[in-house]
Amino acid sequence: MDLTRLMAERYSVRKYSEKPVEEADLEAVLEAGRLAPTAKNLQPQRVYVIQSPEALAKARALIPSAFNAPVLLLCCGTPEACWVNPFTGHPSDETDVAIVATHMMLKAAQLGLGTCYVCWMDTPKVHRAFGLPAEERIHCLLTLGHPAQDALPSPRHAERRPLAETVARL
Ligand SMILES: Cc1cc2nc3c(=O)[nH]c(=O)nc-3n(C[C@H](O)[C@H](O)[C@H](O)COP(=O)(O)O)c2cc1C
Repeated sequence: MDLTRLMAERYSVRKYSEKPVEEADLEAVLEAGRLAPTAKNLQPQRVYVIQSPEALAKARALIPSAFNAPVLLLCCGTPEACWVNPFTGHPSDETDVAIVATHMMLKAAQLGLGTCYVCWMDTPKVHRAFGLPAEERIHCLLTLGHPAQDALPSPRHAERRPLAETVARL
């Protein structure tokens, strides 16, 4: 499918079928994340695949927006391992991880899978529950699975501000 059409048709899926995600599709999604650009190519990301019944139960209990997806990709970054902008002191790991997640989101859409980019969670709690390394920060969760038959985009999905409001030519 044409990339622009894919981008327009992708929407945040908040209802999933129980159909499992094929391993080859999961691998393809993870590979798309691996190909993402990162600042100075430092690749400070770590993506945790939450798929076992135990890990899913733990995540679902802590993250209301896990939407019962059969796979959850917990997307983390290590600030000490990323580029730091010398002009602002701002570490790139959150941006790097957001691009990794976006690559995975679009690949999933190409494969007919649904995702939702989720930040609404108590990240320190999730961090503790999964015993993640102290140096890693959770930046987002990507839900992944086959959309339920009656899954629908949110009514506001197609609302995008016109370019004239979000782009300025200098
Ligand atoms: C940084 C970020 C954080 C988000 N956090 C959540 C979230 O916690 N829960 C949720 O249901 N959707 C979340 N979303 C999804 C957005 O609400 C959604 O992408 C937006 O409303 C546009 O809708 P669409 O993805 O269907 O086009 C998030 C998206 C982004 C980019």
